[in-house]
Amino acid sequence: MSYRVAVVGGTGNVGREMLQILAEHDFPAEEVVPLASSRSAGSEVSFGEDKVLKVRALDNFDFKGFDIALFSPGAKVSAVHAPRAAAAGCVVIDNTSQFRMDPEVPLVVPEVNPDAIAGYRKRNIIANPNCSTIQMVVALKPLHDLARIKRVVVATYQSVSGAGKEAMEELFEQTRAIYMNAPVERQKFTKQIAFNCIPHIDVFMPDGSTKEEWKMVAETHKILDPDIAVSATCVRVPVFIGHAEAVNVEFEQPIDEAAATAALRSAPGVSVIDHRADEGYVTQVECVGEDAVFVSRIRKDPTVKHGLSLWVVSDNLRKGAALNAVQIAEHLVKHEFAA
Ligand SMILES: NC(=O)c1ccc[n+]([C@@H]2O[C@H](COP(=O)([O-])OP(=O)(O)OC[C@H]3O[C@@H](n4cnc5c(N)ncnc54)[C@H](OP(=O)(O)O)[C@@H]3O)[C@@H](O)[C@H]2O)c1
Repeated sequence: MSYRVAVVGGTGNVGREMLQILAEHDFPAEEVVPLASSRSAGSEVSFGEDKVLKVRALDNFDFKGFDIALFSPGAKVSAVHAPRAAAAGCVVIDNTSQFRMDPEVPLVVPEVNPDAIAGYRKRNIIANPNCSTIQMVVALKPLHDLARIKRVVVATYQSVSGAGKEAMEELFEQTRAIYMNAPVERQKFTKQIAFNCIPHIDVFMPDGSTKEEWKMVAETHKILDPDIAVSATCVRVPVFIGHAEAVNVEFEQPIDEAAATAALRSAPGVSVIDHRADEGYVTQVECVGEDAVFVSRIRKDPTVKHGLSLWVVSDNLRKGAALNAVQIAEHLVKHEFAA
């Protein structure tokens, strides 16, 4: 079988990575159409090493006859066009925050809750979680299976690519301005991001947390287990690609470092790089272009009865967004469409 696939937001950070991964994985597509705003209509985007595709405008695009649409055009655009695509019979895999907490829309990380995918039929939409949630739950799942997680305290170090292509340009321009002794201009970020860290991602919530922090709590509950207490502090750092997370995990049952490491080593999607030596751990620049969620610095947290501390790093544009969406599409093709 071969499918017709639309990539909505195909000129963006996530959309371009989706096209790259569809080509890399040799996804069974007879046609792939990148869609974006009318500003980009007629421009070209790469599809794999040697192909280019012409971008079409989303506004009046007819999804009839398309099997799968991978959406990443921002929540407001998805709110309008994802239901339109779904109504035309196309299964939408949406990367934005628009449908994630809708009880009729599955929120899926294939390594963690693949069975939820079958629930897509209610609305013809599947939601891809937030990038910082995805990499955390991939690492937590094997540990939860081993000793039941009670509580997680996480601090994130999130790259600017998580805020879109214009945010990457802002880090570049501010860095250049500082070296050139020119004025530093702000647009996407609330404070200077070059040579700085900003503990503010998305809007503030009434309880003083940010929406990015709330997403890590609510999405972990929906994907992994509603009984896990999660406390998150989300921080934007001056890194172009790759998110890192310092994670403290408290368990119900005893767990030791060796058993945790063994469980992580055999878990799908996880790569353990953990040597207690210089270079024996993964940082953001090394994860770029990689598929894995890297886990390093696995050690006992002696401040609680059963505790571990971890360092979790992943490419936010791949596993944190595009790769996760393509994996869902591959699951659909293999287990749902073929059935
Ligand atoms: N980056 C990440 O790590 C990440 C992870 C998970 C989820 N997400 C979510 O994915 C979405 C996109 O993120 P991104 O980083 O790829 O952003 P981006 O680089 O800014 O790209 C945005 C894309 O949306 C398109 N778009 C904007 N307005 C549109 C409209 N009115 N009609 C049609 N297309 C429109 C843009 O097309 P033009 O080029 O024509 O403007 C572009 O292709 C966001 O909702 C984000 O929260 C991102």
